[in-house]
Amino acid sequence: MPVPSARPEHVSFGNTIKRVSDIAFAYNAGIRMFAVDAEEELEKIAEHAPGAQVYVRLIVETSSADWPLTRKFGCDRDTALKLLDRATELGLEPLGFSFHVGSQTRHAEMWVPVLDELSRIWTAAQEAGHRLQLLNIGGGFPAFYGEEIQAPTDYAAAVMELVEARFPGAERVMAEPGRGMVAEAGVIACEVMLTSRKSDRDMHRWVYLSIGRFSGLAETEGEAIRYQFVTPHDGEATSPCILAGPSCDSADVLYEKRPMNLPLNLKSGDRVLIRNTGAYTSTYSSVCFNGFPPLDVVIL
Ligand SMILES: Cc1ncc(COP(=O)(O)O)c(C=O)c1O
Repeated sequence: MPVPSARPEHVSFGNTIKRVSDIAFAYNAGIRMFAVDAEEELEKIAEHAPGAQVYVRLIVETSSADWPLTRKFGCDRDTALKLLDRATELGLEPLGFSFHVGSQTRHAEMWVPVLDELSRIWTAAQEAGHRLQLLNIGGGFPAFYGEEIQAPTDYAAAVMELVEARFPGAERVMAEPGRGMVAEAGVIACEVMLTSRKSDRDMHRWVYLSIGRFSGLAETEGEAIRYQFVTPHDGEATSPCILAGPSCDSADVLYEKRPMNLPLNLKSGDRVLIRNTGAYTSTYSSVCFNGFPPLDVVIL
């Protein structure tokens, strides 16, 4: 059976930071829609993708996501309005706005402050005479990592209801769900490499796994994403332990501020499964940091 592929006219180049050669490549491949959050980016697009459609990414300052995507991306209200005008001056077609509520936004109601904030910019742009057609609501749809989340269809319906009530005239609402679609399709198999205590007075054991921050579990940064572990001793007595990766970097500690409860009998050589790791893991894995090979991917 042929693998369905997206047609270029249905693809948008959503990164706001693009090389000119990548803009030209996308344009030559038939892609016509590009995200921007800066004037210089508009100028690059005008030169290398003449006449393209653009949407302006808005900064999100009220995210309550587990993995927020704030500050680095987007621009404020006044800049956004200026960019819409500048796009027209440069012969581009400004379509509307995009934003990302923050990855792993666990419940639809957590979108409310973000949507309230951004809908004021939408209204301001309409009042300034812009005919906005598109709202790209990005991702944020959650995966199950142990904390309660809303079922995907309830979540999506609730988000759409909140969006429709706040963005009048948005003929096209586009979404880019990532984690929510793929995380639960993946599992990482690793092993315990060492368990230890640093002293007799050590409160917690250390458990070192064969995977760490640099071999796929980058989203443990700040202990933001808390994965679930399946071990051969599940059901036996547990205690909190500090979980760390195998590399020679002391930043390679997964959970220390909030230690992870794991079976007391866990020992070197035990195979451990990490649930729901189909998103943002293998692609984060370093090529060969400290000689550890990149995460091997097996598709079943
Ligand atoms: C622009 C954009 N859209 C969508 C996504 C997917 O987000 P999520 O995995 O939270 O659904 C990302 C993730 O980084 C992104 O940067």
